[in-house]
Amino acid sequence: MACGTKQLIKKLKNEETHLELKLENNEDSLLSLEAVFKKFYPDFKIANYRKYKGEKWIDDLYESAKELKFMIIIKGEKIRLKVDAKRDFLKKFLNELENFFEWAEYTGTEQFMTRDEQRNYKYKMKPLFRERMQKLLPGKEDFAEFEKIIHIPPRNYVRCNTLKITPKELMQRLSKKWKTIQPFPQHDEIILVEQELAPGELGNAIEHLLGYYYIQEVCSMMSVLALSPEKDEFVLDLCASPGSKTSQTAAKMENKGTLMANDLKQDRINILSATLERCGATNTIITKHDAIALCSKLSKTNFRFDKILLDAPCSGEGTLRSSSKTFLMWNPKIIIKFSRQQKKFLAFALKCLKVGGTLVYSTCTHTPEEDEEVIDFAVKNFPVKVEAINLPLKCRQGITEWDNKVYSEEVKKSCRIYPQDNDSEGFFVCKLTLLDEIKDKWEDKNI
Ligand SMILES: C[S@@+](CC[C@H](N)C(=O)[O-])C[C@H]1O[C@@H](n2cnc3c(N)ncnc32)[C@H](O)[C@@H]1O
Repeated sequence: MACGTKQLIKKLKNEETHLELKLENNEDSLLSLEAVFKKFYPDFKIANYRKYKGEKWIDDLYESAKELKFMIIIKGEKIRLKVDAKRDFLKKFLNELENFFEWAEYTGTEQFMTRDEQRNYKYKMKPLFRERMQKLLPGKEDFAEFEKIIHIPPRNYVRCNTLKITPKELMQRLSKKWKTIQPFPQHDEIILVEQELAPGELGNAIEHLLGYYYIQEVCSMMSVLALSPEKDEFVLDLCASPGSKTSQTAAKMENKGTLMANDLKQDRINILSATLERCGATNTIITKHDAIALCSKLSKTNFRFDKILLDAPCSGEGTLRSSSKTFLMWNPKIIIKFSRQQKKFLAFALKCLKVGGTLVYSTCTHTPEEDEEVIDFAVKNFPVKVEAINLPLKCRQGITEWDNKVYSEEVKKSCRIYPQDNDSEGFFVCKLTLLDEIKDKWEDKNI
């Protein structure tokens, strides 16, 4: 992208009527700004900006520009954009600017499109994303199916919250308003609403507000099926918010035993706690910690968990059907960053697991760097083995070669869930057993 949107876009504080934004001083940045201004503010003249270089001009310029709504000042490496205006105006301006830069980033051009034009534009995979997916799905038809389905909204799955109602009773209630089926006889808590719904209809239904069901994409339910938590166990959900899998775990545990649900930030904790309250989970302790800091502390005690769920933050390639923004946000640097973080989370989490205990690692992405590579890292550095898992969705085995890297054969037992195989979103699940105590100084390992 031309000019560091993240630096440029900032939230407007209360009653603020003055904005000062900084962006990289380069030709692209200036062109981007020109494009936005010309479209939205044709009266604004920016023809002079190149004249005002160097610090000594700035104060004078600012004085003389008071009549203007905008001013661009070039100072060394940065361009400062000053905007004085009413708050409403500034909000709209920031909004337009953000929209513009997101779009420019996505299309890779400075081509401006109105919001309507953007809405009608069919989101496409960025070229590198496409190339990588073609490598993962070398069959032409397979890839075509993938490319087709990622543009279709996902089906409406809900999970019966068995802490509050039985699947049978819930089906009786829901079938009065919707066409519902239970597609998996072994898992009757999984319910598919097989009809078109109005926006928000599932969330606004009284049964949802009462916590009788949780709206959850079917593949996201697979991690807890793989974990198979039981009553009276000690279970850790390390990255838990918004609590889809925590509430599912509490239900599987029948509200017995102890479940620790952790997340990093207060806003995420608030969502998690609202979910658990609505679902009536009472065996759950919520903690607010960085995953590594939490595991680091816990591992220094004698306490160990029976089971751990690590549903890691990831690049989200599997969520294209529900969140088309992922097409926009996709970028290869993020994959590397997540991969490193995921390996660290896994290394630290394993230290808190009982010998013989189970850790399920899952992501909602297809990138091997965040999936098999993380498992390969665990297998090669810790006393763990990968367990085969039997899930009610079609799973493809983990891959063992990617980008000139060769992964352990063990990772084949991981489960890749593609949207075109199950009319679902995309997912990755892997189940590990800890075979022995972790003795060596894993902090020193080169992640
Ligand atoms: C994939 S989401 C988890 C979804 C959740 N398991 C569910 O099923 O509802 C990843 C979560 O990790 C949290 N997270 C990100 N960085 C973290 C960190 N350093 N420590 C703990 N949690 C973190 C995010 O806030 C986010 O809620």
